[in-house]
Amino acid sequence: MIAIRNAREIELIRQSCQMVADALDLAEQMIKPGVRIIDIDKAVEDLIRSRNARPAFKGFRGFPASICASVDDQVVHGIPDERTLQEGQIISIDIGVEQNNYFGDAARTYAVGEIDEDKARLMLVTKESLLKGIEQAKKGNRLSDISHAVQKHVEKAGFSVVRELVGHGIGEELHEEPQIPNYGRPNRGPRLKIGMVLAIEPMVNMGGYQVETADDKWTVLTMDGLPSAHFEHTIVITERGPEILSINK
Ligand code: CO
Repeated sequence: MIAIRNAREIELIRQSCQMVADALDLAEQMIKPGVRIIDIDKAVEDLIRSRNARPAFKGFRGFPASICASVDDQVVHGIPDERTLQEGQIISIDIGVEQNNYFGDAARTYAVGEIDEDKARLMLVTKESLLKGIEQAKKGNRLSDISHAVQKHVEKAGFSVVRELVGHGIGEELHEEPQIPNYGRPNRGPRLKIGMVLAIEPMVNMGGYQVETADDKWTVLTMDGLPSAHFEHTIVITERGPEILSINK
């Protein structure tokens, strides 16, 4: 069952999502060469807790930090540590917040200083593919219309979508039904309805789509060692179409 959220629930999810957007802005301000990733994690956690909310990833299935921070060939679920950011890297920051029992989730990929053209294009195409997917999140469409739109945009640009990890419903849990793959044929799966809240999150690899998990049991890496980017929004399907909740108002 995919939950249909009422106006009150959507407001609560929106509040958590706004906090995620603020936390991502804070992370963005901190990102530059020489900064330790663990300090970004700490600052984000402090911000979230100062607003009487909780970083949703911390302790989730044992994840040890408040943010996922994934650099270059790390796709998602990178663990913040003492590493310092280096000029030319790209870093994906994924943040979840829970407040009043409702969740928000979003991710963005940032450049560290100057990056090369290929990485810049990878980031742009990933962000565009998220927006293409969101456009399809409307009443009457089917779930895989989102997946298909993402894949089509990514592959047209010569990149590939990660298949082993998916977007998800969100609300009273961080991960709810349905799973939202970033690839597939259109016009499959459940019909989309007003009040559904979805976290859509393409993970896009510059090379092949294959990934593997690092020895830390968390970090997902590209198999070929080429970079990967990740953008995510939590959206709600309204009468007027998709509305992005994880955006600063
Ligand atoms: Co997510």
